[in-house]
Amino acid sequence: MMAGDDPRKVIAVADPAALAAAAAGRLLARMEANPGRTAICLTGGSSPSELYRLLATESYRSRIPWERVHWFIGDERFVAADDPLNNMGVARQIFLDSHAPAANIHPIPTDTAGPGESARRYEHELQSFYGARELEPARPLFDVVLMGVGPDGHTASLFPDDPFLEETARWVVGVPRAHVAPFVPRVTLTLPALGSCREMLFEVAGSGKRAILTRLFAGENLPANRARSTGETILLADQAALGGESP
Ligand code: 6PG
Repeated sequence: MMAGDDPRKVIAVADPAALAAAAAGRLLARMEANPGRTAICLTGGSSPSELYRLLATESYRSRIPWERVHWFIGDERFVAADDPLNNMGVARQIFLDSHAPAANIHPIPTDTAGPGESARRYEHELQSFYGARELEPARPLFDVVLMGVGPDGHTASLFPDDPFLEETARWVVGVPRAHVAPFVPRVTLTLPALGSCREMLFEVAGSGKRAILTRLFAGENLPANRARSTGETILLADQAALGGESP
């Protein structure tokens, strides 16, 4: 069960298809709510692929104001842009490259000397987009930040007990070692950068997530429990992930 003071809102859905539809509906609502430039931070892992496929279908893509929506990524594996493990590469292949203006797609560069250099370059890109080098609580960087939860409670590429969890100044960091497969270096946004959003939206599906969800709801000190939006934090979970757990 969740602690009573948990500010996160849990929304239970039937299955992965319903989860993707719910997430897509929330993204569209955020795009409509902000008539100006809208910034969406995508995520890697398997859970969002169904959402990405849905966004590419006619009924959704016709409602996305492509010209004013900008797409970022919360973490990246340090592999070539066209490697199947590249998180933004997956999103580009499924829906971005066919519909989004190229200038609105903001991948984390991986053709650099190393993850630290990639992190510095992406931080610079985010700060140019935002127009400042300090995040202001009243002016979130992103409209929506999509997140997943790993079996060990990691989120983005922030792993349990990582010193990067304490980062308060940098927006993006290079992570030399991942704790779970794929074991390639990562680049990840930090908690303050990810949290600077109107809505943080976790997608959690499948019985394989049941154990970690129970630990999250028990309030364990895990990265996925420390990631919080300055606005709303929503956890979308399907029945298989929730099991008997009532949120
Ligand atoms: C990554 C992801 C990662 C992911 C979780 C959940 O680069 O691997 O950004 O943080 O969201 O591991 O992944 P699944 O959706 O595949 O369970």
